Amino acid sequence: MIKVANLKKSFTGQAVLRDISLNVAPGELIVILGESGSGKSVFLQHLIGLLKPDSGSIEIDGVDITTLSERKLLKLRKNIGYLFQEGALYDFMTVYENIAFPLHEHTRLRLKEIKEKVLNILKLVGLEKAGMKFPSELSGGMRKRAALARSVVLDSKILFCDEPTSGLDPKKSKEISDLINDISRRSKCTTVITSHDIYNSFRIADRLVLIDHGQIIARGKPEEIELSSDPKVKEFLI
Ligand SMILES: Nc1ncnc2c1ncn2[C@@H]1O[C@H](COP(=O)(O)OP(=O)(O)OP(=O)(O)O)[C@@H](O)[C@H]1O
Ligand SMILES: [Mg+2]
Repeated sequence: MIKVANLKKSFTGQAVLRDISLNVAPGELIVILGESGSGKSVFLQHLIGLLKPDSGSIEIDGVDITTLSERKLLKLRKNIGYLFQEGALYDFMTVYENIAFPLHEHTRLRLKEIKEKVLNILKLVGLEKAGMKFPSELSGGMRKRAALARSVVLDSKILFCDEPTSGLDPKKSKEISDLINDISRRSKCTTVITSHDIYNSFRIADRLVLIDHGQIIARGKPEEIELSSDPKVKEFLI
């Protein structure tokens, strides 16, 4: 369970998050939609403790993470899968090594078990033939899939994905959205995705949250948002 209450954040006097409150139920898949610069990435960075709010709280499974020490935050992050907006694969490692890395770092699995897990996940994301390639040798869509594989390899119960479809064509966007949806449902992950991708967000989300200038302007099931008469919501959905 994630409970965000009255979160506020400014950078050099500019308010970026203005009093955001949001609960995410266990196993729920939420997509946060909003224009560029509306505060989506800043919000997600707060959820993993990379940024501290000016005020407000973020409870994850009963613990307020805004007051945790760096050491406790590191421990918390082991239990959270995080797909960065830019993918953030290590350029000097192959795809296989990138995905195996969290397993070497955070588990005591033996080499054979790691290999089995990595090969399974490569297959799941359709990269079984790309394990020995370096990130620079992949297409944008393949890089996103490799980064997604790395973010879910520890079987975390919480998954955050920042713009998983940005820069991809409609077919690839649909593929990666379906993949995240499958992985999230399969492992009953509590999932928060940020996106501009209205079409795929409506297809996969349990609930949508629209943010505008750091404020939530609408939230609800896709069919509820679709019927909204709020002019700002309608304008965003065009
Ligand atoms: N570390 C930072 N220091 C100062 N300002 C920041 C920082 N991070 C983000 N901002 C500002 O906060 C605002 C929101 O940025 P954010 O990255 O959250 O937008 P976004 O909704 O994720 O946009 P996009 O859809 O383009 O990814 C922007 O005006 C940005 O310049
Ligand atoms: Mg962003």
